[in-house]
Amino acid sequence: MFFAWLKRYVPGGLYGRAALILLLPIVALQVVVSIVFIQRHFEDVTRQMSRSVVLDLGHLLNEVHETNSPAEALAHTRDLRRDLELDVTLPAADPAPRGTVRRLFYDVSGRTVVATLADDIPELRAIDLARSSRDVTVQLETDLGPMEVVFSRRLVTASNPHQFLVIMGVFGVLMTAVAFVYLRNQLRPITRLAAAAEAFGQGRVVPYRPAGAREVRAAGAAFLDMRARIERQIEQRTRMLSGISHDLRTPLTRLRLGLSMLPESGASSPDIAEMERDVAEMEALIDAFLQFARAEAESPPVPTDPAELAARAVEKARRGGGDVRLAAPPDDARAPVALRALAVERALDNLIGNAVRYGGRAEVSVARLGETALRFSVEDDGPGIPPDRRDEAMRPFARLDLARNQDRGTGVGLGLAIAQEIARAHGGRLELSQSARLGGLRADLVLVPSSRPSGAGDGEAGAPAERRIAGGERRPVPRHP
Ligand SMILES: Nc1ncnc2c1ncn2[C@@H]1O[C@H](COP(=O)(O)OP(=O)(O)OP(=O)(O)O)[C@@H](O)[C@H]1O
Ligand SMILES: [Mg+2]
Repeated sequence: MFFAWLKRYVPGGLYGRAALILLLPIVALQVVVSIVFIQRHFEDVTRQMSRSVVLDLGHLLNEVHETNSPAEALAHTRDLRRDLELDVTLPAADPAPRGTVRRLFYDVSGRTVVATLADDIPELRAIDLARSSRDVTVQLETDLGPMEVVFSRRLVTASNPHQFLVIMGVFGVLMTAVAFVYLRNQLRPITRLAAAAEAFGQGRVVPYRPAGAREVRAAGAAFLDMRARIERQIEQRTRMLSGISHDLRTPLTRLRLGLSMLPESGASSPDIAEMERDVAEMEALIDAFLQFARAEAESPPVPTDPAELAARAVEKARRGGGDVRLAAPPDDARAPVALRALAVERALDNLIGNAVRYGGRAEVSVARLGETALRFSVEDDGPGIPPDRRDEAMRPFARLDLARNQDRGTGVGLGLAIAQEIARAHGGRLELSQSARLGGLRADLVLVPSSRPSGAGDGEAGAPAERRIAGGERRPVPRHP
């Protein structure tokens, strides 16, 4: 509708909108005021000046009436003509037909002049404003024949209001410039808050201090509180997971060692083998826990060739005996992107591992999405995951349909969760769908690496201000004011 239509032409940014809100009323007001004012002013003044010329002309006509010949009339009115600045020709050289009016169409004030003169001078024969922009020529009826009078246009029209317009324009521009500067200072804190929130969403903690108007400061302080709380929680979770995993390792190692000693004491070997398998499985489980706990505590992003990274992951899976193929990457997928390479590779490992485990054949491809985004796709020919269970599958420790996967070995249920966590740390997401080509699951790891230079350099020696959200190492969460 109308508003939808209007919306297309309204600027999207806060700055543009604020400027529009500021400018529109001012410009509209100025235009209306100047039009009304100029018109009024012009018309009134022009009418008054024309009236005084009407008086002059009446005076002249009276004087001419008292004489009997053109020559006598001219002589009689010499002083009068000089004083009133009227240039008189009697009789007129080329009398115009009665009622002739010549006026340029854009000569707005001329309309008032013509109307006033025509109303107030019964003897008026013709009036010509178009012959010269400087003069007014009128022809008047007298007993001695038509008389032509030329006088300056200045006598009937006020000088142009250009000055007024120029002053208004100059001050308008000046004031707008000042307003823009103030506006920008008011909007900058909001932009900063937005940037800090966006960075935090991608797992980066950038320095931010609430500033600006009261409401913006309040929002900024709330954001800081929220950020601190989330950081604390993440750190707690990470610390707990890695603590538990770490502490479980020691007794497990002892158990494994103990098991390897058992045959000497005469226990039956098949039982021992089974127990050893269980222990190995538990160790794998703990490794997965640790991996999950550290998914966020990764090394800083470094410029990485995505195609090469995918090739590495595929090569690794092949060595492990998987039937994995890498689709030829498009050229633009070779341009380096700031990635936490190890983490992304681990996410790919998990996805390829799933594809090989639950399907048979896997296909990996890389694509560039627009300027900054990047997509790794892993497809397989397995049973896939029904749409209504995809969200569930990505949850930590979720294993679907155990019966179906029984012969495929047991996972912990962390693979997809880790991949999703890593995607989020890159400002992206993990998307599950059905593979059109192979019929199984299609997992898209979409990454949107930060385009800001600080994103690529974060954690560098030169940029200590920015840091990753608390990860594996034990670091005190800084308190914000
Ligand atoms: N390619 C796939 N095809 C079919 N089902 C899948 C596929 N990938 C994952 N799933 C289902 O989603 C569940 C969760 O997968 P996820 O990778 O998170 O855990 P997992 O493979 O069971 O264990 P882990 O990867 O931690 O060893 C799996 O148990 C499986 O049922
Ligand atoms: Mg898995």
